[in-house]
Amino acid sequence: MNLFNLENEVAVVIGGTGVLGGAMARALAAHGAKVAVVGRNAQNGATHVEAIESKRGTAIFTAADALDKSDLSRARDEITSKLGAATILVNAAGGNRPDATLPPGADFCALPLEAWNGVFDLNLVGGALLPCQVFGQSMLENGGGSIINIASMAGMIPLSRVVAYGAAKSAVLNLTQFLAREWATKNIRVNAISPGFFPAEQNKKLLFNDDGSYTERGAQIIGHTPMNRFGESDELMGAVIFLASKSASGFVTGHNLVADGGFSATTI
Ligand SMILES: NC(=O)c1ccc[n+]([C@@H]2O[C@H](COP(=O)([O-])OP(=O)(O)OC[C@H]3O[C@@H](n4cnc5c(N)ncnc54)[C@H](O)[C@@H]3O)[C@@H](O)[C@H]2O)c1
Repeated sequence: MNLFNLENEVAVVIGGTGVLGGAMARALAAHGAKVAVVGRNAQNGATHVEAIESKRGTAIFTAADALDKSDLSRARDEITSKLGAATILVNAAGGNRPDATLPPGADFCALPLEAWNGVFDLNLVGGALLPCQVFGQSMLENGGGSIINIASMAGMIPLSRVVAYGAAKSAVLNLTQFLAREWATKNIRVNAISPGFFPAEQNKKLLFNDDGSYTERGAQIIGHTPMNRFGESDELMGAVIFLASKSASGFVTGHNLVADGGFSATTI
């Protein structure tokens, strides 16, 4: 019995153009799923598709803006006609933005609403709500599936300075549990993965100086991580395969799988 065989699955990875989503797309393809890498950056998408095809996997790139419901619906129809109806959805579009990060000692009361709204739009609306509606509808019509929302350890405990991002990811965890219950009898499982700190495009300036050394914030994070290092994107592959595979996690829904090197398990 192979608990991790995804050969009959069609996986859609929104934000599969990014560092974590790209690694998850490669993992799903390596376990046999046909994969649609969805995002705005065609060049990054092509790189991930080539990497999958070079290992004899099946993948396509489909351009879509996760914040645009009609664009997502068009992408869903395109994917369905090329690969079949989605049975796995990974929501990996998201990230923080500099104007929503409070500088050290900055006044919380001055946090710009536009920045707050932008972070909520990207992480909650585009990062979970709209894709869950568009691809969830298709799963309801086609017999079920597995939805995996990429939340964050910052959504579980309030980190300093990144309040908008943490609050948006908290909302993603709440939506995940709501949908887990809503669709529990419809054969749709809805779970989350909460990564700790993994160097990626959207956070590299927060973690590293131009010369590659840690920023003060990067050093603080490492200092609080029991494993004394950042994560590597490949270290999320097992988490996504486990939650995607019905054979491995068929009775698991509404779960938040934390991969953070122990960050949230300890205080000083
Ligand atoms: N890297 C980390 O340390 C970390 C930690 C916790 C959670 N996360 C979460 O993991 C997910 C992946 O982030 P990452 O770190 O790989 O960052 P990343 O910037 O490498 O990837 C994010 C991807 O999402 C895409 N994207 C952004 N807006 C989009 C939109 N409107 N429509 C379609 N695609 C869009 C970007 O183009 C990019 O390819 C995010 O939800 C992020 O918040 C990351």
